[in-house]
Amino acid sequence: MTSIVRVLVVAVLAVASVPPVMSADKIELSIDASKTGAKIDRNIFGQFAEHLGHGIYDGIWVGTDSSIPNTRGIRNDVVAALKGIKVPNVRWPGGCFADEYHWRNGIGPRRNVTLNPNWGGVIEPNSFGTHEFMDFIDQIGSNAYVSVNIGSGTPREAADWMEYMTAAQPTTLAKERAGNGHSDPYKVAILGVGNESWDCGGNMTPEYYVSQAKIYTRFVRNYNPAQQQGNEQMLKVAVGPGGKEARFTDWAETVMKAYRQHTWSWDIQGLSMHNYTVLDWQNKLASMNFGEAEYAKVLKATLEMDALINQYSAIMDKYDPQKKVALFVDEWGSWYAPLPGTNPGFLVQQNSVRDAILAALNLNIFARHADRVRGANIAQMINVLQAMILTDKEKMVLTPTYYVFKMYVPFQDATFVPVSFDGGAYTRGDITLPRVDALAAKDSAGKLWLEITNVDANEMADVELSLPGGIKSAKGETLTASKVDSINTFDAPNTVTPKPISARVEGGKLTLKLAPKSVTVVSVEQ
Ligand code: AHR
Repeated sequence: MTSIVRVLVVAVLAVASVPPVMSADKIELSIDASKTGAKIDRNIFGQFAEHLGHGIYDGIWVGTDSSIPNTRGIRNDVVAALKGIKVPNVRWPGGCFADEYHWRNGIGPRRNVTLNPNWGGVIEPNSFGTHEFMDFIDQIGSNAYVSVNIGSGTPREAADWMEYMTAAQPTTLAKERAGNGHSDPYKVAILGVGNESWDCGGNMTPEYYVSQAKIYTRFVRNYNPAQQQGNEQMLKVAVGPGGKEARFTDWAETVMKAYRQHTWSWDIQGLSMHNYTVLDWQNKLASMNFGEAEYAKVLKATLEMDALINQYSAIMDKYDPQKKVALFVDEWGSWYAPLPGTNPGFLVQQNSVRDAILAALNLNIFARHADRVRGANIAQMINVLQAMILTDKEKMVLTPTYYVFKMYVPFQDATFVPVSFDGGAYTRGDITLPRVDALAAKDSAGKLWLEITNVDANEMADVELSLPGGIKSAKGETLTASKVDSINTFDAPNTVTPKPISARVEGGKLTLKLAPKSVTVVSVEQ
């Protein structure tokens, strides 16, 4: 080491589980941190918790009598884990469940026991209702995204629910809430006006939906005095498209056209979009014990998110050029075949290195569209689809996707900074993907953060970053494992966890050697 070639080894911990592999061509990234873009809204890191399988019951709610450590019936281990990823909002109670949910079944000392016909036809005890959800939100330090029932409910039912939750004045409903243990009004940050109303939410035509949305957004009022002005005001999210087919174009056009003509008496601030990564709905791929071919196929499919956002952003731009309405991708993630031996209606799947890469690629897509995409909710938070957390009775394990969300915390509400790079190509069979993806942002303290995904299943990526003023140092973490289908299990929970990464700074440039199939986040000191 000389004074001319100054080498700073910031952390010298090797990633033990990665066998030695060859590097392909060097990837050069350049950032001009003075050229910033939109704020990466923290709400794109939102979660989704539906009454589905063990998403709520066993995953969050174990009840006050449980031997599993809990606070007022809510699992302490799950709460502690979720605090670690700073969940900005939780969408609840569904999903398809929301359009059959009647809130009165879930309040008070005696709960009505109902059924959950969408998801396995099982008993819904309604033990987890409004107060339990709000308690959970409070315990994890998040915000409520409540989807109201417009499919089988009525405007009055939804309006009453909102009054029950948010009224501060002593109305009969507010007094009932106080009688059930919460005198202060709750905050509802986001209101979902139905769910997939073109399908499980009532098979509505776009025109019928618009007429319903006008009624619901008019009458389902948030009365919380703290939410009447500014950024605290509740956002109302209308149902949007669920794919690229013509019927969804028609749907988005109809809703956005109505928005353009909206009057003082109704309004929306968001349009939802649902897009799962699933290759064939009739013959879904396995979530574990797969090979590189399936890895490449799934990642190719997930990159279609970008085209879909472009498609619907163009429609939104036509009717809302000022981008007042946010695109909320409020259901996204991988959807694989149910694990053998599980109830197919419970949507139980494993979560592997492939899902970590998939999550990073999607979060980067959302961030690159930060001017329009200001909300997203991965499906679903616990035990369902691409989950953060898996539980089995008293056991809990954090998934590779959880760790990606943890690594991305610095990007919450950070300012997008464009990165220039040629990502190269990774080819497997007839599939070619960008080998490397990258995202940069500045946090509120002015610190620069860089994420780099090495999609290549086999080859290291040598990455070099340059900044106009040079780089002093960098430090961060990388997530990978030996196989594309490596997973964390209750018995081996640390197979896929972030490890510190070695970062070299030489001649003012940062060099990183990224393991195959890895997600890396570093902070850069200029
Ligand atoms: O996330 C599972 C289901 O997928 C949701 O209930 C529904 O909205 C979507 O079709």
